Amino acid sequence: MLILGIETSCDETAAAVVRDGREIVSSVISTQIEEHRKYGGVVPEIASRRHCENILPVVKKALADAGVTLHDIDAVAVTYAPGLIGALLVGVSFAKGLAVAANKPLIPVHHIAGHIASNYLSHTTLEPPYLCLVASGGHSHIAEVLSYTEYRTVGRTRDDAAGECFDKCARAMGFPYPGGVHIDKASKFGDPSAFKLPRPKVAGSEFDFSFSGLKTNVINLIHNNAQKGIELDCNSLAASLQATIADILTEKTVNAAKFLGYKKVALAGGVSANSDVRAFLAKACAENGFEFYIPQMSLCGDNAAMIACQGYYNYKAGITADSDLNAIATLSLDKL
Ligand code: KG4
Ligand code: ZN
Repeated sequence: MLILGIETSCDETAAAVVRDGREIVSSVISTQIEEHRKYGGVVPEIASRRHCENILPVVKKALADAGVTLHDIDAVAVTYAPGLIGALLVGVSFAKGLAVAANKPLIPVHHIAGHIASNYLSHTTLEPPYLCLVASGGHSHIAEVLSYTEYRTVGRTRDDAAGECFDKCARAMGFPYPGGVHIDKASKFGDPSAFKLPRPKVAGSEFDFSFSGLKTNVINLIHNNAQKGIELDCNSLAASLQATIADILTEKTVNAAKFLGYKKVALAGGVSANSDVRAFLAKACAENGFEFYIPQMSLCGDNAAMIACQGYYNYKAGITADSDLNAIATLSLDKL
């Protein structure tokens, strides 16, 4: 079964063709990062306008790269939630038009479910149930993946996502948007024990995260030192911040796996590209005898292959949409 996936939830216009949920036949990603970089973050209206311009060539290229036409596609899967509403609407409207015109089923896909599914493309033997940490620019979730289409969130961020913390601290350090990858690079030249950074306690749920205190602490440190004319060791601050974030994500995920009795743990989302997050979680999983799964680097960030993959499993579970499908800016993974 060939699924065409479409993703426009943030600043990447992407389309992909995936066979039987597990094999990437083609994957095209057109990123707008350069344009948003000027503003230090994603400007929603610009994102929508670029999706509008890019979507047709991106979908055409995905079909051409796969050596197929729309006629050969069995269904069209699209990210409909969560994300920037104007950006999502471009993908949803386009996918809907395509599905109606070609008389193909339309499959709605939750963006976070898509990130989780990226592991099915990298590990063809991975099957639910397992526990997944999803850390991206907008989300930090620990979710039980009960089946291919059912989830239960056991931990989430109370404020900023891990990626947001990376990006805002990176901006204060003078790195361009999105700064997570620059912190990762700088950390290689620094001492992770140089700065003792706060590890926020979250009242109520031991598996919830909070990154805003850590973010504010690092930004204040940078500004206070700048005011006093003291030069900070930016590489060591990057290394310390990265190690702190990786440690918090790892500790909560491993504790949740132990508490819930999971022996399989996966990592997904843009922050899963981070070297410390990958390494810390891999080490902790090995120490606890857990199987550990991470997506290949090319599938960590936003892409449409993960949407087509999840689309396949949604379709198998009978999850399809009519032509009244709408985009939703905020939608819990548990409500699918
Ligand atoms: O999943 P994603 O592409 O978009 C969202 O759905 O949010 O995640 C983007 C986030 C950004 O915050 C970006 O800085 C972060 O992932 N990121 C990283 C790294 N690569 C991407 N954060 C830390 N280290 C990295 N190597
Ligand atoms: Zn994402």
